Amino acid sequence: MKKTRFGIIGTGRISDWVLKGAVLEPRFEAAAVCSRSEESAAAFAAKHGIEKTFTDIDAMASDPSIDAIYIGTPNHTHHDIAIRCMNHGKHVLCEKPLASNAREVSEMIAAAKANGVILMEAMISTLSPNFRMVQERLKTMGKVRHYSGTFCQFSSKYDKLQRILNGEDSSPVPSSFNPDCSGGSLMDIGIYPIYPMVTLFGRPKSVKADITTCDVPTSRGMKPVDLQGCVVYEYDGMSAVTMYSKIADSRLRTEISCQEGILSLDQIHITRQVDFIPHGAPTSGRASGPSVQDITVPCDPDEYLCEFREFIDVLESGRQESGNNSLDNSLAVAEIMDEIRRQGGIIFPADLLF
Ligand SMILES: NC(=O)c1ccc[n+]([C@@H]2O[C@H](COP(=O)([O-])OP(=O)(O)OC[C@H]3O[C@@H](n4cnc5c(N)ncnc54)[C@H](OP(=O)(O)O)[C@@H]3O)[C@@H](O)[C@H]2O)c1
Repeated sequence: MKKTRFGIIGTGRISDWVLKGAVLEPRFEAAAVCSRSEESAAAFAAKHGIEKTFTDIDAMASDPSIDAIYIGTPNHTHHDIAIRCMNHGKHVLCEKPLASNAREVSEMIAAAKANGVILMEAMISTLSPNFRMVQERLKTMGKVRHYSGTFCQFSSKYDKLQRILNGEDSSPVPSSFNPDCSGGSLMDIGIYPIYPMVTLFGRPKSVKADITTCDVPTSRGMKPVDLQGCVVYEYDGMSAVTMYSKIADSRLRTEISCQEGILSLDQIHITRQVDFIPHGAPTSGRASGPSVQDITVPCDPDEYLCEFREFIDVLESGRQESGNNSLDNSLAVAEIMDEIRRQGGIIFPADLLF
């Protein structure tokens, strides 16, 4: 069996996590790792049984024994790293969000097309078996009336941020809360309910955002970063809402309400359980009507496996891009997030470059 030989960029927690899923794909091979430090590269390579180490991205990307690159570095670095790798003729699987803004995403798409390589956003939500089942099931559900997607998870890095803001911790603001790194709640977790909405329903006609921010130290002085948000979207004949937070938890399920009933997903970032609640299902014990059906399909043994399976499927089939994680979906999501940030007054250094 031919294996796709990946070079991994970044030796942080996410690269570690995704590799545990990637190695379950028999066509995957971790062939090289690139870190800013030789020690981190060597430690990561030893832990994951990787043959080659690099500290120079161009050296790894120009190595002819590497087929594809996985990018697991902070958001503000994705655009530059991905374009460099694609210009060396490598296919790229890049962590979400694909880039800082829609301008950068457009430039990455242009580089993928110019070099004839695959570029895919590593968004697991739209590739999991249960999401794909929901996508199929929707075809039998009649008109969709409402989508409500939620991902709210208190971040331990928010405690750290507060210590930094109170002067009790002198370390830099974590990248997920740092506008210099194109961070913030929207980019970190708010994207999870938005990407599936776009995959299922396309671009909305309008976007109205209500977001909570706080000022954090940046290279441009104290600047706002978003902590949580609630966004309402207008579509033809349906409405949608997404909620996200890094300062509060929520167990609200994600719902797609249709003419024939409701598809209720336990969580949207990685769906593991789905109920079908038929139209007319009773809401009290005394009423009668059709009962709720658990329509869950088996999950993958690891949640990150699906993105490597999809990427290698696309590569082996000769297609130019993924269906669910298409370039146009990634661009539409970036445009929506630009608009949410515009309404909330969140600006990244990458927005100021023209
Ligand atoms: N799919 C998911 O479930 C998931 C979960 C968490 C995060 N993410 C995404 O993964 C990405 C990384 O997030 P994270 O929180 O892991 O970030 P992070 O800890 O700040 O950085 C990850 C790694 O990137 C490298 N790095 C850091 N700063 C860099 C820079 N300025 N230039 C180049 N490389 C740099 C470092 O590796 P070296 O020291 O080896 O260079 C670092 O360990 C983000 O895009 C995030 O949205 C995805």
